[in-house]
Amino acid sequence: MPGMKEAITSRTYDLWSKFYDLTFGALVVRRQWAAVTHLPVKSGDRVLDLGVGTGMTLPHYPRDVQVVGLDLSPGMLSKAARRCRQQNLGHCHLVRADAMFPPFAPQSFDHIVICHTISVVSDPRRLLAWAQRMIRPGGSIVVLNHFQSTQPLMAGLERLLNPLFVKIGWRSDLALEDVLEGSDLTVTYSFKLRCFDIWRIVVLTSDRSPTTVAGRSHGSHAAASAAPPHPPSTRGPRLQPAGAV
Ligand SMILES: C[S@@+](CC[C@H](N)C(=O)[O-])C[C@H]1O[C@@H](n2cnc3c(N)ncnc32)[C@H](O)[C@@H]1O
Repeated sequence: MPGMKEAITSRTYDLWSKFYDLTFGALVVRRQWAAVTHLPVKSGDRVLDLGVGTGMTLPHYPRDVQVVGLDLSPGMLSKAARRCRQQNLGHCHLVRADAMFPPFAPQSFDHIVICHTISVVSDPRRLLAWAQRMIRPGGSIVVLNHFQSTQPLMAGLERLLNPLFVKIGWRSDLALEDVLEGSDLTVTYSFKLRCFDIWRIVVLTSDRSPTTVAGRSHGSHAAASAAPPHPPSTRGPRLQPAGAV
């Protein structure tokens, strides 16, 4: 059952769904593709796409992978369903649920993708804690998002503009370090498609066996590690990341 904030988010994205693909979606389509292609999937894997929206990522998954797209907004999901029908994406299934209370057992998925959703939910740490719980050992979580700049001037501007962005459905002041604080997730690598891009693709892994979300230990995490230029084992066309850190 979504909380008050999630109910507002759901209505906001019902509105967004009417023009999402032609506006924000058009800006991020290449990054979504890059995020999906950095998943080290193999045939038969199960992937969860949290906050799947209008399903723009769905055509990028290999057809021998089972994909579950979860979202809160019926408007966004209905666009995703239409995309699945029109493009014959029988390997993709859609679920309406709150990503912070996902209806799946621990270790239900091999990998998880979270595109532009971590800065939309009311509790990003909870979202990640659940994601960590739902992946099998050795699985990856790929996050595509804007994170607050590490440059003080830019970070100040992002904080200043945050109330405006919140009104249209996301926040601009979320720092990657803050989201990862207290989690046992490690940044395997992260990169930007372009040097001055505001969106970052972050590949996270966890060696920890799943425990309850409430019982998370406060282990250490790497803020950002050196990036291998390519994912360890991926398929399909690959991009050479421009701004690897
Ligand atoms: C900016 S859109 C991103 C959609 C898609 N991942 C993409 O990259 O195009 C954010 C999505 O997150 C969904 N969302 C927001 N809060 C959510 C929650 N608590 N549970 C599930 N989905 C949520 C919204 O409905 C919306 O579809």
